[in-house]
Amino acid sequence: MFISLEGIDGSGKSTQAKLLAAALGSETLLIREPGGTSAAERIRELLADPSLEIDPFAELLLFSAARADLVSRVIRPALEAGTHVVADRFADSSVAYQGGARELGTSHVLSLTDTVIDGLWPDVTVLLRVDPEVGLGRADGKDRFESEGLDLQRAVAEAYEEIAQIASDRVVVVDASGTVEEVHERVIEAVRSSG
Ligand code: TYD
Repeated sequence: MFISLEGIDGSGKSTQAKLLAAALGSETLLIREPGGTSAAERIRELLADPSLEIDPFAELLLFSAARADLVSRVIRPALEAGTHVVADRFADSSVAYQGGARELGTSHVLSLTDTVIDGLWPDVTVLLRVDPEVGLGRADGKDRFESEGLDLQRAVAEAYEEIAQIASDRVVVVDASGTVEEVHERVIEAVRSSG
């Protein structure tokens, strides 16, 4: 089974991805985007540097390059071997951040991303919904998106809501307020009921 966790910065998805992967068993592969291969980790460093100015489409292509490498060299082989894969961010992050917040257009980024991942969409995507003000308060503010403030996070949150409607067959929205344990239980329930 292929599960992705999505949400705005500070939604707690990295913590929840770790807990979910552990709950699915020791064989589960946990990956984070951008990253997961040597080339993708190098691209991650580049994208995380707030001092670099990057054109939005170039930014999308960098995320896409990292993702294409990860899908073909790690995710697809793992799924074919019967391993569960939990992704801390995946294709929907580009639709929300580059398509929505950077205004490249959600449907445009959706179709480009479909080519990048060769149609390998997750079986279930858990969207952790949190108020952008709360999320920004929790985030450490270090990467290029967090440092751009509340309006950016609001735009991302709005795009995620649009994705939840467009892809309602795969996306399950989970309330990310409450304790880590409470949210974990909601995530498990969301995965169980859709799997
Ligand atoms: P991430 O490492 O998940 O940040 P954090 O764990 O601190 O929430 O992601 C880094 C940033 O990259 C985050 O602000 C979201 C952004 N991002 C995109 O804009 N597009 C993408 O396709 C991905 C995967 C991430």
